[in-house]
Formats: sequence, structure tokens, C-alpha cells
Amino acid sequence: MRSAAFFALLAATLPALTNAQAQTWAQCGGIGWTGATTCVSGSTCTELNDYYSQCIPGSNAPPPPPTSPPPTSAPTSPTTPTPPTTAPTGTPTPSANNPWTGYQVYLSPYYATEVQAAAAQISDATQSAKALSVAKIPTFTWFDSVAFIQKSTGQKQLVQIVVYDLPDRDCAALASNGEFSIANNGQANYNYYNYIDQLVAQIQKFPDVRVVAVIEPDSLANLVTNLNVQKCANAQTTYLNCVNYALKQLSAVGVYSYMDAGHAGWLGWPANLTPAAQLFSQVYKNAGSSPFIKGLATNVANYNALSAATPDPITQGDANYDELHYINALAPVLKQQGFPATFIVDQGRSGQQNLRQQWGDWCNVKGAGFGTRPTTNTGSSLIDSIVWVKPGGECDGTSNSSSPRFDSHCGLSDAAQPAPEAGTWFQAYFETLVSKANPPL
Ligand code: BGC
Repeated sequence: MRSAAFFALLAATLPALTNAQAQTWAQCGGIGWTGATTCVSGSTCTELNDYYSQCIPGSNAPPPPPTSPPPTSAPTSPTTPTPPTTAPTGTPTPSANNPWTGYQVYLSPYYATEVQAAAAQISDATQSAKALSVAKIPTFTWFDSVAFIQKSTGQKQLVQIVVYDLPDRDCAALASNGEFSIANNGQANYNYYNYIDQLVAQIQKFPDVRVVAVIEPDSLANLVTNLNVQKCANAQTTYLNCVNYALKQLSAVGVYSYMDAGHAGWLGWPANLTPAAQLFSQVYKNAGSSPFIKGLATNVANYNALSAATPDPITQGDANYDELHYINALAPVLKQQGFPATFIVDQGRSGQQNLRQQWGDWCNVKGAGFGTRPTTNTGSSLIDSIVWVKPGGECDGTSNSSSPRFDSHCGLSDAAQPAPEAGTWFQAYFETLVSKANPPL
């Protein structure tokens, strides 16, 4: 076998602290943290984001997560946004096929490192081996802060990324509030100085690498149903401008995009379906109806079944009680509006069903198991691939009510606790995903 293309996520990490105190996997720093700032021997306090440092097993910090490297060319955040100086060059030709066909999906080395470290912590040999096998299952890499991909050698690889750094991100919740703010030049930072242009420049360097992107989870869905939330109303224009810019620039370098479309229990309700279809179609047209904008991603980081054997009682009243019903209902309305969308569906944590008290519960749902493995054998011509978008084992949000990013959903009785900050490793949760995996690992 030829060796796989090698990518590295470039990111900054703080120097490791060495004195022992906090337990392995415990928090050891971050905004508002007042507890121990050093770790027991055998683990290293590693900054994962501004809000969270964690004791990670090993004396050396693992490859850092995609977090902010210092900018190489000083973006001094001018107040008047200037358009990009260089437009992407060359005109890529879209494939008429499913984007995954003929490509090998790239395995994120960051997730593999997380999984390997986690498996090493499991004493039961059978469970540990099952856990380790998760490192071979491709997930998406979330570019949830300023971070870039780099390549040294190559072959026909497909890289799956999540574009997730809008200013005033996560406007209707608190757990994943981001690094850019609208008030502080967020749109120009996102488009030109710190995020999209840089991502596009990196992608453009490696034309033989196919990139598939999920665009900004929750953002457009929030504009469909949550404009009564002040932060979402304020963010509406900025979200639309930034998503438009991202779609155009990514299409220009041949990235296949799927806009996030919430899930059956959000936009699948009859009252939301048509407004959602109108918004997605409008965004598609505003971005030039590029054939690289393939369609929509559903159930990202959620827990719904693609096809439920029987409707979960919490879905009562919604004829679209699973993702397949939702997709089958949405696709024709999109088509009518001029958007011939196809879909991808996250099933990474959907192995177990009927776990939630409310359909809207989204945070670290207790008892969840890894779900159907990624495959293009989806059984539906509307679905390009079943995917794992949320890397299972990474947390949805902290249960620490004194954290600035505490969201009450993460303190509900059906949310696993204690839970660390969003995006950081949640060992106990990962172990349950492994043991409850369906199909089994
Ligand atoms: C978090 C991100 C994280 C992603 C994948 C999101 O909920 O906000 O920080 O990268 O999940 O785990």
C-alpha cells in the first residue's frame, strides 16, 4: 500500500506545565478556571482553547487541536474591509459523480491521536481494542478556529472539513461561542484576514486533494427559526455575507460544499420546511448556483436515526421523524426553488435511539453509541454519503455551570456529566460510545 498523503494541522499550543495536581483528563486551566493548573505525573496540561486546558496522558502534548496559530502576516484589523487582492485562479471542473467516488478518505491524525490515547486508558483489553479501531474510521476535521492544512506528499485523497468560525458563532446557544465577534471586525476577519482566504490559499496549493466541506453548522438553521433571539437577529446579515463569501471562494477552488441544514427535529417540522428550503435555495443562488455547492448536511453532531425502526416518542407530531423522512420532504421543495441538492447525513453518534427526554436535547446525550459507519452505499439517490461529522468523544459543551460557555442543555438530566468544554476530549463519553456502538465495533 502506498503511504497516505500526510497533512499536518498547524496550530499553536502553550508550553506544557509539569507539576502534578489535576487528574488525567481533568481541566487544568482556561478562562475563569480557579482549580489546579498542573497535572498528575504521566499527563500534561495542554491548552485546547481559551476556555479549556486539559491533562492529556503522556509527557509530551499530543498534536495540538485546530486552534489559533499566531498570524504570520500581521492582520491589523482595519475597520474598513478591503476585498481580497487575489481571486483564486484556474477553473476547476466539477465531477458529475458523487464526490467520494474514486477517492480514499483521509484520516485525521488529530482524531487518531485522541482515540489512541483514549484506548490506552481502557483497562479491559477487548473494549480497548474496539476503541482503538475507531481511529480508522474517517471523521470530519472541524476548523473551529484559525488553522490551516499543509501537505508534504500526495495521492488521490479526499479531506473532509467543517468550516466553523463565523463571527458571533452559535448565536442561539452558548456552548460553542467562537473567537470572532461582529462588533470587533468579525466579518472582515472571517472573510479576508484570518480564515476563509487563508483556508482557500492552502487548499489551492494542493489541487490533487479533493476537499468536501460542511458549511457552518447551525448558522442558517438559526436564521430560519431563531431570529427571535437577539444575538441571531444581530448576526443575520453577517452570517449571510460570510456564508456567501465562503461558498463562492471554496467553489472557485473546487471544494464540494454541503450547507448545514439542522436535522429532522429542527427544520423538519412542517412549519419550518418551506422557509428553510427558501433560505437554502436563496443562499445557493446568491453564491452563483455553483455545481460545487452539492447540497446540505443533516444531523451534524446530533443523534437522530437515518431511518428509525419506529418513531422515537419525542418526535410525536412531526411526520418527518427521522433524517430520511426529512430529506425526502426537503429535497423536492429545494428542487422547485432551483436547488438540485443532494445530502450527507451524520450518523457518528446515532447508534442508539430513544434516549432523549426532548427532541431539542443536543448536549452529550446519555447512552449514545457510535452509529452506522461512513459509506456511500446509502440506499438513497438523494444521499451522497453517510458520514461521521462530529468526532465521537469530543464534547458538545461543558456541564460546569460557572463556565462562560455553560449552556443549560448540558446540565439536563439526559446529558452526561461532568462534561468538559465543547470540542475537548470527554473520555467517559467516548467509552460509552464504544460499548454502545451499533453496529458493534
Ligand atoms: C465545538 C468545536 C469542536 C467540534 C467538534 C463543536 O461543538 O464547538 O470546538 O471542534 O464540536 O468536536
